[in-house]
Amino acid sequence: MGDTNWWQRGVIYQIYPRSFMDSDGDGVGDLPGILARLDHLTWLGVDAIWLSPVHPSPMDDFGYDISDYTGVDPVFGTMDDLDRLVAAAHARGLRVLLDWVPNHTSDQHPWFVASRSSPADPKRDWYVWRDPRPDGGPPSNWLRYVGDSAWRWDDRTGQYYYRVFLDSQPDLNWRNPAVQEAMLDTLRFWLARGIDGFRIDALVVLVEDDQLRDNPPNPSYRQGRDFPYMRELSVWNVDRPETRELADRMRKVVDEFGDDRVLLAELGLPLEQIVAYYGSGSDGIQVPFNFELLTTAWDARVIGGYVDRYLAALPAGAWPNWVLGNHDTPRVATRLGPAQARVAAMLLLTLPGTPTLYQGEELGLEDVPVPPGQALDPIAHLVPGRGRDPERTPMPWDGGPGAGFTTGRPWLPVGDGNRARNLAAQRDDPASMLTLHRRLLQLRRQTPALVAGAYVPVGVDGDVLAYLRADPGGDRWLVALNLGSSPARLAVPGPSPAGRVALSTHPGRDGQPVAGSLELDGDEGVVVQLD
Ligand code: GLC
Ligand code: MG
Repeated sequence: MGDTNWWQRGVIYQIYPRSFMDSDGDGVGDLPGILARLDHLTWLGVDAIWLSPVHPSPMDDFGYDISDYTGVDPVFGTMDDLDRLVAAAHARGLRVLLDWVPNHTSDQHPWFVASRSSPADPKRDWYVWRDPRPDGGPPSNWLRYVGDSAWRWDDRTGQYYYRVFLDSQPDLNWRNPAVQEAMLDTLRFWLARGIDGFRIDALVVLVEDDQLRDNPPNPSYRQGRDFPYMRELSVWNVDRPETRELADRMRKVVDEFGDDRVLLAELGLPLEQIVAYYGSGSDGIQVPFNFELLTTAWDARVIGGYVDRYLAALPAGAWPNWVLGNHDTPRVATRLGPAQARVAAMLLLTLPGTPTLYQGEELGLEDVPVPPGQALDPIAHLVPGRGRDPERTPMPWDGGPGAGFTTGRPWLPVGDGNRARNLAAQRDDPASMLTLHRRLLQLRRQTPALVAGAYVPVGVDGDVLAYLRADPGGDRWLVALNLGSSPARLAVPGPSPAGRVALSTHPGRDGQPVAGSLELDGDEGVVVQLD
């Protein structure tokens, strides 16, 4: 572990600030709230926090529509609050990452206000403006995320502008060097203020084809199952070569500030395309997100096969990453059920690579249904059934009326189920999801083999996925995960296999000796220290 960086050893915890902790009773979480709850994170045992956007924003997309990249929105607090939070986090040994949204600004950003005002405005070319096709239609057939044309007609100046997300999130024109400089400077602004790195939002859609070539249809589109934009193959407006070059420039900017700042990037691409963002292993994005566990069939053979392919595809020097949940995806306990969510936590925290942990997953929170009429997420209205409010509901800290989250009325409901899963109720319970997370994080911290040791697949037997983590010193750990609900048996590999259970998802098994074979309950995962 000697030559690994903090972000390789560490676990990154995603905070969705609106829902973490509200300090002033307005029902919306804020920076002083996060500061007040930092002890939870050090007690839990994570190494860094990534904050979803806290910058000034009209909040059409709850902060992913930024109108000032170097400020703090009053709903979250002040610049002083952010400085205080960073200082307090650093004092506890926690790193702080911000969310950087380079693809688009808010339509209220002064740059877009100017750009939209006139074709002659100096900022016109900071966004992607195009004339209609001769027939009056949009300049290309490209679709935006919610499935209609990615081109939005603007009456004022009689041109279309390009936007992948909401009308109020116009895409920046990253081909313009002035845009590049202005945006890269916003990184420098925060790095100089002590921020340890960034999660780059929607990197994959940064640049589009300059000839506006039409996308081909997607022959394997599954109507009703796939997101509507997937009916075409986004070859000309997604994952363009220029984007990869710009990613290298972003990396150079963080490297100006030393070698311990990090970039994570949201891509949402297949394996072969994700790994391209590492560059040659030392010059690209350090942590391109691997979203496979968010959508994979929960099947031992499928997951085992993917881990093998992913690790084999990484360029030399590249570090893996795993994501089990985030603010855009139904919660893992809802997707897999509460029992299997425990096994998933063990998988996340014992695979090789940097795990990211979404707030509330340590409590086993589930999605909170929000009736369509009360949905706040704009996606809920644009693509019915795909709203993201359910996974963004407030953290329950205790069983009180505001769940210890707020003294006011929470902006989204806490939900009775999640209220019962509150932190106070789980804290001292040896069988709780919280205790399992805390113990997994502790074990990881104490066990170099789990962090930087080799990954050796043991194979898949029925529903059981098993692998060894081994470090050069000879320390060997077996992880065996029963992804099914029936009991299973695994032959423990090795000449005279023996060891003892260091941790099980099922309480009461710790310390049990293991020899020859391993019996697993349904939905049980164990970490075994081999002799
Ligand atoms: C990313 C964010 C998502 C947001 C979108 C537009 O996918 O994670 O929450 O809506 O980008 O910024
Ligand atoms: Mg507040």
